[in-house]
Amino acid sequence: MRILILGKNGMLGRDMQKVFADMDFVALGQSDLDITDQEKVFETFMSIQPDVVVNCSGYTNVDDAEKDFEMAEEINGYAVGVLARACREIDATFVHFSTDYVFRGDKKSGYSEEDGTNPVNAYGRSKMLGEQLIFDEMESISQENPKEGKYFIIRTSWLFGKHGKNFVDTMLEMGKIKDTIQVVDDQHGKPTYTIDLCEQVKWLITSHEYPSGVYHITNEGPTTWFAFAKKIFQLSNMKTRVVPCSSDDFRRPARRPKYSILKNNALPKLRSWEEALEDYLKTT
Ligand SMILES: NC(=O)c1ccc[n+]([C@@H]2O[C@H](COP(=O)([O-])OP(=O)(O)OC[C@H]3O[C@@H](n4cnc5c(N)ncnc54)[C@H](OP(=O)(O)O)[C@@H]3O)[C@@H](O)[C@H]2O)c1
Repeated sequence: MRILILGKNGMLGRDMQKVFADMDFVALGQSDLDITDQEKVFETFMSIQPDVVVNCSGYTNVDDAEKDFEMAEEINGYAVGVLARACREIDATFVHFSTDYVFRGDKKSGYSEEDGTNPVNAYGRSKMLGEQLIFDEMESISQENPKEGKYFIIRTSWLFGKHGKNFVDTMLEMGKIKDTIQVVDDQHGKPTYTIDLCEQVKWLITSHEYPSGVYHITNEGPTTWFAFAKKIFQLSNMKTRVVPCSSDDFRRPARRPKYSILKNNALPKLRSWEEALEDYLKTT
């Protein structure tokens, strides 16, 4: 089985290569293949002939997406539709990452795979477009495409990993220079360690047990950024004081959903985020 990993320099893409190290894979970054270059996408897929394409690339700056929506929409939306079409052309399975930010965030009990999307910010809208274009490409049946394409849309949330800007590292850096840190206590979600996510993706692809569709993969247990920060300092034996504040005290260009807890009703569950965090901290 040959895997093509896109976004090789990103936080998730780097760990994906680590986890797929014992398999036949090719990894490409933006300088090898800009995913918005439709012609090059088809050319590259034809020449590599992967069985599975794992798309770890994306426009991921949530705040910048507010003023740069066209670019976010291009990379997270239209280009993803082209990747799906190119996968279908060569009969490859398409694995794509989406986000808890496709949801509105007013459902306290959390969101299951089938819940309707309704994002509160531009990044979420661009990711929702990507999901929609995958459905459109993969599920349309015609004379040229008599059977559906194969795809996994994996929604995940609050990623932390060794090779990218993330909340855990930001807290540790701030803790070195500040005694007290204010952290928002009114956004609820599920932190996820990139290595755990990559391993689950590898298992999903190689088990051949699951049909095409939307899956939620996160570490288990909902929390808030405030409680997450407290745990980071506790496990790191740091004395930094964490003070709760509301999102209104900490204005950012993009609104965040208040409750973006992804419920996993389809796959075996991952370990708790606290256990994953403990492992991650051993590597930093
Ligand atoms: N981080 C999170 O908390 C989180 C949560 C939920 C979902 N996700 C999703 O998970 C995926 C991976 O996220 P991440 O945090 O690993 O992102 P990341 O570290 O920002 O990496 C994104 C990668 O995308 C590449 N890229 C950007 N534009 C491109 C283009 N036009 N053509 C080809 N490559 C391009 C970038 O390449 P360069 O390095 O060359 O610029 C970068 O390496 C994304 O789809 C994201 O939406 C992330």
